[in-house]
Amino acid sequence: MSNIFAIILAAGQGTRMKSKLYKVLHPVCGKPMVEHVIDHIGSLEVERVVTVVGHGAELVKETLGDKSEYVLQAEQLGTAHAVQQAEPILGSLEGTTLVVCGDTPLIRPETMQALFAHHEANHAKATILTAVAENPTGYGRIIRDAAGQVAQIVEQKDASAEQQLVKEINTGTYCFDNKALFAALKQVKNDNAQGEYYLPDVIEILQKQGEVVAAYVTENFDETLGVNDRFALSQAEELMRARINERHMRNGVTIINPATTHISADAVIGSDSVLLPGVIIEGQTVIGEDCKIGPNSHIVNSQIGNNTTIHSSVVLDSQVGNETAVGPFAHLRPQSTLGDHVKIGNFVEVKKSKLGDDTKVSHLSYIGDAEIGSNVNIGCGSITVNYDGKNKFKTTIEDDVFVGCNSNLVAPVTLKKGSFIAAGSTITKEVPEDALAIGRARQENKLGYVSKLNSK
Ligand code: UD1
Ligand code: CA
Repeated sequence: MSNIFAIILAAGQGTRMKSKLYKVLHPVCGKPMVEHVIDHIGSLEVERVVTVVGHGAELVKETLGDKSEYVLQAEQLGTAHAVQQAEPILGSLEGTTLVVCGDTPLIRPETMQALFAHHEANHAKATILTAVAENPTGYGRIIRDAAGQVAQIVEQKDASAEQQLVKEINTGTYCFDNKALFAALKQVKNDNAQGEYYLPDVIEILQKQGEVVAAYVTENFDETLGVNDRFALSQAEELMRARINERHMRNGVTIINPATTHISADAVIGSDSVLLPGVIIEGQTVIGEDCKIGPNSHIVNSQIGNNTTIHSSVVLDSQVGNETAVGPFAHLRPQSTLGDHVKIGNFVEVKKSKLGDDTKVSHLSYIGDAEIGSNVNIGCGSITVNYDGKNKFKTTIEDDVFVGCNSNLVAPVTLKKGSFIAAGSTITKEVPEDALAIGRARQENKLGYVSKLNSK
């Protein structure tokens, strides 16, 4: 699509959210609403994207980065005034401009594309994306003339009782002839219930000039939901969750109970992986094929290989290899890297550590700031003693080491290849290759002592 521009309106505070966070930054399935909007636009071939920022301008810019150009609307005088701020960038260009609100995260690129095609086919100066709402309260209503042509859009607060009965609503998404848009904006007035410059007024202005104004009615109202308060936010979350889950299921992922499975918008999951109930997958997580995740696992910004199991566990900012088993009840904290065929069993915490292939930590251990080779066995209850209250120290365990149960490895310390730590040892010195280290008090048996005590 050549000569296509987009303007995203994202300057409002979002008073109805009753929040310290600016409205368009509220996440839906883990991603700020306005970022959903911009990513959808990004999948169309739009030449320039301009985001109008105001409240929280710096934070919005930081969130969207170089996905957009920005203009500042210092005072929020209404949606028409917001669009006008883009004039220095777009005002003189020939082309078509798509205007989208930053608080409608569900409108799919396909729908924007269809709106655009309708606009082109009708040689219109403006085309509104409309939908029919069961409950239209709060939305601008589409008022059509006797011939069925769009005459104007009336906001909820300005609508007569009769107009309020209209169920066709303005979704806040439009296509405009760019030059006609900026010319018409100059004529918009603020003599309405809210004292604001309304973008929808441009429709009536163009219509009265005898220009072609069209409407494209989308079948799917859900998609056009505008998020103005926390209730709508929860609806958007539910709709987006269902959409994301469906996409994965159609791609070959089994989701046993979609209602309790939360997957971020950008996560990738390989085919034949199974998600059991209670799974939350956040951020830029990538899960391979044939994995079994859950029940009840929380995975954030992590990469999981193929054929791996994550059972009732938490995995944060970590990498897990192939054919590896984690959990139940394990906690992988950030910067942990597990190789292939690794086993992390119940009540094991791993932090900022690397574990080589075929290494096993099966029960009740803490592994922190450690570099562990392959084919190592860490016995039940063993810990890396990595912290002296001020600084953290590293534990190095080379390949084929066996650490007996309930050992303390006081870092900094190295266990050389093939060494063997006797159960219950406290290891403070390097253990040479192939050596047995025993660091515990010797056992002494006092014969007959118990009956002597009992006879007192
Ligand atoms: C708007 C439309 C309404 C439509 C609805 C669809 C207007 C006047 N009304 O109503 O017809 O049915 O969207 O969801 O346009 N914004 C700015 N600067 C401003 C004011 C708003 O950037 O000065 C931004 C907001 O951040 C938001 C978007 O524009 O992202 C829409 O504003 P909002 O106040 O939510 O409009 P609605 O009342 O929902
Ligand atoms: Ca809105």
